Amino acid sequence: MCGIVGYVGTEEASPILLQGLKRLEYRGYDSAGVALLNGGRRLHVVKRPGKIAALEEAVEAEMPTGTCGIAHTRWATHGPPTQANAHPHISGSAETPDIALVHNGIIENADLLRTRLQEKGYTFESETDTETVVHLIDFLWKDGDPLEAAVAEALTHVEGAYGIAVISSRDPQKIVVARHGSPLLIGIGKDGKMLAGSDAAAVIAHTRDVVYLNDGDYAVLTADGYRTYHLEDGEVDRSVHQVTWDAGTIEKSGYPHYMLKEIFEQPSSLRDVMRGRLLEEEGDARLGGIAANAFDLGRVRRVIITACGTSWHAGLVGEYLLEEYARLPVDVEYASEFRYRNPVLEEGTLLLAISQSGETADTLAALKEAKHRGVTTMGIVNTVGSTIARTTDFGCYLHAGPEIGVASTKAFTSQIVALALFTLHMGRRSHTSVLRGREMVQALQKLPEQVEEVLKLNDEIKELAAEYADAQNFLYLGRGFQFPVALEGALKLKEVSYIHAEGYPAAEMKHGPIALIDEDMPVVFLAPRDPVFGKVVSNIEEVKARGGRIIAVVSDDAPELQGKVDHLIQVPQTLPALLPVLTTIPLQLLAYHVAVLRGCDVDQPRNLAKSVTVE
Ligand code: G6P
Repeated sequence: MCGIVGYVGTEEASPILLQGLKRLEYRGYDSAGVALLNGGRRLHVVKRPGKIAALEEAVEAEMPTGTCGIAHTRWATHGPPTQANAHPHISGSAETPDIALVHNGIIENADLLRTRLQEKGYTFESETDTETVVHLIDFLWKDGDPLEAAVAEALTHVEGAYGIAVISSRDPQKIVVARHGSPLLIGIGKDGKMLAGSDAAAVIAHTRDVVYLNDGDYAVLTADGYRTYHLEDGEVDRSVHQVTWDAGTIEKSGYPHYMLKEIFEQPSSLRDVMRGRLLEEEGDARLGGIAANAFDLGRVRRVIITACGTSWHAGLVGEYLLEEYARLPVDVEYASEFRYRNPVLEEGTLLLAISQSGETADTLAALKEAKHRGVTTMGIVNTVGSTIARTTDFGCYLHAGPEIGVASTKAFTSQIVALALFTLHMGRRSHTSVLRGREMVQALQKLPEQVEEVLKLNDEIKELAAEYADAQNFLYLGRGFQFPVALEGALKLKEVSYIHAEGYPAAEMKHGPIALIDEDMPVVFLAPRDPVFGKVVSNIEEVKARGGRIIAVVSDDAPELQGKVDHLIQVPQTLPALLPVLTTIPLQLLAYHVAVLRGCDVDQPRNLAKSVTVE
């Protein structure tokens, strides 16, 4: 959600800022802008509605120069995606702006601040909450003070979530950044350059050395270095982390879209999540993050999984896994619901937050609420150093590499495998025999190769997509371990193709969705060979009897379905608990190809953002 990039150094800033913005475009893409300090004195702001390409054209035309600047790609919260609402926002007159600010997050007391500032004579050009902060900085800036003093003072009056970057012609050649609730990091460049970004993708072309700011931190960046401060504690030291991937990792590598690239990365992302973690002889899994923690997992009596979107679907698979192998009661909660309820969190509860980005505001808030109530918390997170990863007591990284496509694909299958590893760990300390554990380990070891097999179905699924690309609606049905897959398949299709799709438990269909079935309704059945296969066959009969067009994802040649379904997609067989990894992939491909055929922007679907840092 909204991307920020900042640069101060000796080179021209605009190409560096535009390159950073392109790498962040997946975070939000309804408008974009840059502000540059020209010769250190004049502030030049260019902004445009639409994608970064529109901004790039405008920058080429206006040719702003300067070696210090900030830039932003927006996902609208307050006010529509117009040029006026695009960031940076400025203080001073339109002709001679003197402070520019970009912001990710939501200022909750913006209305009050706006009214007070209007009373002091400030006029507002936009409908955004952000503009209040830039005027507030101007209002509070005392003569002779550095920019950071005014920013710090302003932030004590601001409520809500923010990651900000600010520059000013009144104190040039410096960027002040701050964070509270929205991610922000410093990139330590070599040879007199410093960068800032809302995630590592913004700075990775220049450095892998980053400093993650904590809530309440602010920092001053100049070409010579940086200093970090906390609003209450004064100057603080924040450690430098090394990003483990490089700029090449976030290229499309010959694929037309990130989504397709990431679908095809799944054999390697699954190898990476398991690397060094499987103990075949013991039928167990070793998770370093858990081992390093003093907390005794034997005390866990119940697990609450909290997440959003695709991560929530992975959580549902986790529920079935933990119940089956570790006999633990599990609740899976939408983070946005959990945080505002009054959940019963008795002794022995473990809260498990699942998040690809590690920055989702609702998941973070649910996690904080659980921590506040004294509950032990664990994370299953992809982005190293992200806020959720740093807030949980311990956890397990996915190591899936950056996921850029807005529709999550490889993170989902890695989340399921991470949950299987955690389940093994818990199960082997309670209800899972060594033989059963070993069976799971062996099945996990085979998964990456089986995924390679599934990916060979790509052409077949592309042809299938052509047959269904004009459908108005889709229904996805599954039972047991395949129910979350039905939900995920429907979500993928909705996200990228804008076709209305519903995922439902196959048997529950009789209590409503069956009324929707006619010859125009494609129904995707998840019907691999598992303990509920026979029941799913009956549900397929029910749809067939009403003329529905059926696509069935199976795990053998399923003779029972001959003549009953229109299309069979066959994936390899594995344990029922791991089948979701294999059955999901054809649905990812189906959604992808349908969306491409419909001319949709697969990597940046309308209205969506990759990392949702507002509630
Ligand atoms: C957004 C993304 C989804 C993602 C969800 C949760 O809605 O578009 O793909 O599943 O957020 O994100 P997280 O990073 O917490 O897994």
